[in-house]
Amino acid sequence: MNSVGIIGAGQMGAGIAQVSAAAGYRVFLADVSLEVAEKAKADIGKRLSRLVEKEKMEAKAAETALGRIEPVGSFEPMASAGLIIEAATEREEVKRTIFAEVGKVLGHKAVLASNTSSIPITRLAQASPDPERFIGVHFFNPVPVMDLIEVIKGLATSTETVETVRGYGKALGKQMVFANDAPGFIVNRILLPMLNEACFALGEGVASIEDIDTACRLGLNHPMGPLTLADFIGLDTCLEITRVLHETTGDPKYRPAPLLVKYVEAGWYGRKSGRGFYDYSGDTPKPTR
Ligand code: CAA
Repeated sequence: MNSVGIIGAGQMGAGIAQVSAAAGYRVFLADVSLEVAEKAKADIGKRLSRLVEKEKMEAKAAETALGRIEPVGSFEPMASAGLIIEAATEREEVKRTIFAEVGKVLGHKAVLASNTSSIPITRLAQASPDPERFIGVHFFNPVPVMDLIEVIKGLATSTETVETVRGYGKALGKQMVFANDAPGFIVNRILLPMLNEACFALGEGVASIEDIDTACRLGLNHPMGPLTLADFIGLDTCLEITRVLHETTGDPKYRPAPLLVKYVEAGWYGRKSGRGFYDYSGDTPKPTR
């Protein structure tokens, strides 16, 4: 397999494009328009330049990697890709539309994958041309820094499909874990209840934003406190995943914290909107309550 198609050039898609190109794959990068994909490539170029400045990458290697990324305005060029990864918005109807479209050009042996963080793979596979060649490949943010890929097998996913993804993940130098298609897979099944619980604790006045974060950072040796991490992931995304856990299991232990729901209703999504549990308008984030 020499080339990879990536659909969605946001934070996750661009990160996946960067690490795929650095690993030697030719990358076709698509988004809602060619302009958006071109802008994402320019941003990847800046990130690669920073790696060169920090002496983490040779200038020549960065230039070669960037040259391997081809922004595309349609899915047609992806017909030659051995693997196509969808990393679009976490909305099922958006993903289904993409699978139907890209399915028209998907090569006969090519694998179609989704970077979904919570939508069941078996269900998504129904919108793909061949559920045996459909799989979940879940990357973590920031993609170039985080060593893990969670691989999720749908009910119909074939062994060959798993092996294709295993080879790709290995080429990227990532550690892979393999999960069955259960709600939240492994990481989010465990992470989201913790982040949600931090929102309950804040809402119930257990401690301040800063103290909840400091407690987990220093008491558990986590790189970020749970409220900082929730802001980093996006509170809308956290709520979405928590709702999937709640709805698909019917278990009340996963019910979303009222404060998390309120913040999302207020449009306070975290870093990406400039305000969540912290205010990001200044040089350093400030707790908002
Ligand atoms: N993109 C690329 N690289 C980045 C980056 C980004 N957005 N943010 C930070 N980095 C790099 C920095 O360049 C730096 O690299 P070097 O060591 O090579 O210089 C390195 O990461 C460390 O960065 P900093 O020194 O600036 O900051 P830090 O030490 O506080 O680390 C962090 C930042 C890596 C993000 C760290 O805080 C961390 O690991 N946080 C937890 C992240 C996490 O849990 N991610 C998973 C979220 S869940 C998810 O993604 C899945 C889902 O479905 C919800």
